[in-house]
Amino acid sequence: MAFEWKERYKLNIDEIDKQHRRLMDIGKKAYEIAVIDDGYDRYDEILTIIDELLEYTKYHFEYEEEMLKKYDYKHIHSQEEEHSFYVYKIDQVASREDIDDNQRKVILEIIDFLSQWISTHIMISDREYAVYLKEQGII
Ligand SMILES: [Fe+2]
Ligand SMILES: [Fe+2]
Repeated sequence: MAFEWKERYKLNIDEIDKQHRRLMDIGKKAYEIAVIDDGYDRYDEILTIIDELLEYTKYHFEYEEEMLKKYDYKHIHSQEEEHSFYVYKIDQVASREDIDDNQRKVILEIIDFLSQWISTHIMISDREYAVYLKEQGII
C-alpha cells in the first residue's frame, strides 16, 4: 500500500517522525481517492486534501527550521530552499482554477509530488540533519 509508514522513514526524532507520519496520512487519503476511480465527484475531498497539505506544510517546515536554527545546523539554507520549493508547488496546485474539471489529474499530481517529497526530501535532506543532531549529541 502506498504511503504506508515504514521503519526506514524514521529519523528517530519523535516529534518530527510524528509530523512526517501525518504527511503519509495525507498521501494515503490522496492515494485512496486515486485508486477508487469510480467516476464519482471528489472535488470536496480534493479541496480538503489540499487544505490539509497547506496547513501541514506550513506548520512542519516552520517547526523544522526553528529547530535547525536553534541547533545551528550548517545546511539550514538548503533545507529552507527545498521547503520553499514544496510550498510553491502546493500553492500552484491550490490556486488552479481547473481543479473541478481535472480532478483525477490533480490528485495524481499530488501523489507524484508527495512521493517525491518523501523520497528526496525526507529520505535524503531531513536524514542529513538527523545525522548531524545525533553527532552533536542533541538527539
Ligand atoms: Fe521534514
Ligand atoms: Fe525538511
